[in-house]
Amino acid sequence: MKIYRAKTYEDMSRKAANIISAQIIMKPDAVLGLATGSSPIGAYKQLIDWYNKGDLDFSEIRSVNLDEYKGLGPDDEQSYAYFMKENLFKHVNIKPENTYIPNGLEEDTEYECRRYNGIIAGLGGIDLQLLGIGGNGHIGFNEPGEAYDKETHCVALTENTIKANARFFDSMDQVPKFAYSTGIKNIMQAKAILLIASGESKAEAVYNMICGPITPACPASILQLHNNVSVVADQAAMAVYDQRMS
Ligand code: F6R
Repeated sequence: MKIYRAKTYEDMSRKAANIISAQIIMKPDAVLGLATGSSPIGAYKQLIDWYNKGDLDFSEIRSVNLDEYKGLGPDDEQSYAYFMKENLFKHVNIKPENTYIPNGLEEDTEYECRRYNGIIAGLGGIDLQLLGIGGNGHIGFNEPGEAYDKETHCVALTENTIKANARFFDSMDQVPKFAYSTGIKNIMQAKAILLIASGESKAEAVYNMICGPITPACPASILQLHNNVSVVADQAAMAVYDQRMS
């Protein structure tokens, strides 16, 4: 695990965008595994900026998102498909047909999970998987306790995650309770992984990911077993690590 320290969220975003853009430049038709949430917004902004300056070309890039709420379609402002369009896709020259996100409107769970695993396999796997981390150590929507050998599956979100997501909705009732998520197995099969973390709410999870036992109780701890993981974390997210390791 390579740890890159950043001062602030902005610094983290720029360093993360550097790693993503290096991947795009080295392999113009790379398969990027993408994430939503607060963590990657700054990195996406930076990539858009470099694209506008003519430094990046997404025309052959393929992307596979980690997850999508079950029950929300791409036109729903809270869906991850909408998030990706607003925060990255509509600002760069990625082809919409090369962007993949689980279909939140598909009610047949087994069918959708099989379809999505087939897409990832058909693309030849993920070259660089971008991840955020939950305060409880979740990656994607793989919550504590989730088996490590899972591929895309339908997840019942924990109370913790539902509360954390509530900030994006008008009321708790509107927060989806289920999501489609790629599994730990899909994540671990990515050739390279880039995990970004910002803020003190992530500090305990970051410490457990780097130093804790490898256990489903902290899903991100499995990343210790991957041979190409970069973590970019800001000072606040490294605080517990720094305190315990000093
Ligand atoms: C998002 C995802 C989640 C988030 C995590 C952190 O696609 O899969 O695992 O990365 O919940 O969320 P933020 O970045 O909002 O703190």
